[in-house]
Amino acid sequence: MKARRVGKLARNQIPNSSPSFWWQSGNGGLDLPAIQQKQFQIMELDLEGRHAGRAYALLSSLVTPRPIAWVTTLGPDGVVNAAPFSFFNVLGANPPIVGFCPGDREDGTPKDTARNIRLTHEFVVNLVDETTAAAMNLTAATLPYGESELKSAGLTTAPSSVVKPPRIAESPASLECLEWGTLQIGGNRLVIGLVKRIQVRDELFDPQTQRIRSELFHVVGRMASPNWYCRTTDRFEMKRPA
Ligand SMILES: Cc1cc2nc3c(=O)[nH]c(=O)nc-3n(C[C@H](O)[C@H](O)[C@H](O)COP(=O)(O)O)c2cc1C
Repeated sequence: MKARRVGKLARNQIPNSSPSFWWQSGNGGLDLPAIQQKQFQIMELDLEGRHAGRAYALLSSLVTPRPIAWVTTLGPDGVVNAAPFSFFNVLGANPPIVGFCPGDREDGTPKDTARNIRLTHEFVVNLVDETTAAAMNLTAATLPYGESELKSAGLTTAPSSVVKPPRIAESPASLECLEWGTLQIGGNRLVIGLVKRIQVRDELFDPQTQRIRSELFHVVGRMASPNWYCRTTDRFEMKRPA
């Protein structure tokens, strides 16, 4: 049988290719050659002009899925603050760094998370799985400064090892971070943190391979604005070319 072509390669020349990866319902039903032959009309959206007011909705719906940093910080009175941020990612490994962006409120004041980090320079990024997704959402409520979102969401904390803010005990994995610096860009604050420790449920860590058992880690992602999420159970492997 003649091999079907995918771009310049026949399907059977693609390393580790599997029929279920190259076409399955849900991916639009078009493979690469079909896309190349189709005539699409492209729309240009001007984020400095007509579509400036849509920047959040457009970008947060296109740049998906995003991981969620469920950040715990300590206020000056010792109250634990928790809030989710999906403008978040790991930014490098040497040294290990993460970044997330609490945008300022409309009146220009920082969100409680940013305010606490400015004072204490420490935070914990807790990761969100299917079990904790609904509780995470509850902690996005705007409470008066000094009131803990964890209590109202029925969550508990566990002590961290090298930073003062505790981790969320129900979270499958947490990153203890020291603030490296915060960049202020308009109404955004990009908080960059050095990851000092990872606290992870033992069932998720394979000591033999020193890897995370991804098949047991049911982390969720943030999808289109305003309220969409995704599960991460539909994974596929694609080996890199040598
Ligand atoms: C899944 C999710 C992701 C969010 N991501 C962000 C974000 O990246 N930046 C942001 O400023 N607010 C984000 N929010 C809203 C904040 O969580 C919300 O404003 C929260 O009240 C801030 O809490 P704080 O004032 O205690 O820091 C997100 C909310 C949800 C539910």
